[in-house]
Amino acid sequence: MTEPAPKSPRESEVVMTQMILVTASMDDLHFHAPILIGWIVTLRARVLAAFNTSMEVGVIVTSENPFTGETSITTSALLTFVAKSLDGRKIRVPPLRLESEAERLAFQEAHARRDERLARKSQTEGWRRLFPESARG
Ligand SMILES: CC(C)(COP(=O)(O)OP(=O)(O)OC[C@H]1O[C@@H](n2cnc3c(N)ncnc32)[C@H](O)[C@@H]1OP(=O)(O)O)[C@@H](O)C(=O)NCCC(=O)NCCS
Repeated sequence: MTEPAPKSPRESEVVMTQMILVTASMDDLHFHAPILIGWIVTLRARVLAAFNTSMEVGVIVTSENPFTGETSITTSALLTFVAKSLDGRKIRVPPLRLESEAERLAFQEAHARRDERLARKSQTEGWRRLFPESARG
């Protein structure tokens, strides 16, 4: 077996940059399949609907087995983000320009989910009474 060529620490450097967002909620988080160590993970996200100051974003994670090239959906989730100005005030989000029938359908579904989500939020806060010491908020 040939000796592997040396690698410098600099070559191993990995940088991940993430913008901090204000997530209001996350739902429908599903893990469809496991990801194995060494597989390639790709995360895709799209705004599905823009409301007033909030928007629903759909996220799909796929993984690829680098030895076979086989890909599969491993995770999906729906997140609601709220837009904020630099000084922290909630601001309107730009409307979505829908360009396909699939986008229009996704938009309608997102609106229906928003109604359910906000109703569920107000209906399911009762259990918090079990934690009176954390009752504020
Ligand atoms: C999310 C947050 C900005 C909402 O602020 P708020 O003043 O309570 O919100 P409001 O009731 O005025 O609602 C603002 C918008 O968020 C939406 N919203 C609020 N709570 C929500 C929830 N649980 N799920 C979905 N949407 C929600 C409202 O529908 C509204 O949308 P619209 O303007 O498009 O109609 C505030 O609760 C917050 O800062 N939370 C902490 C967020 C955080 O730290 N996230 C990090 C997670 S890792």
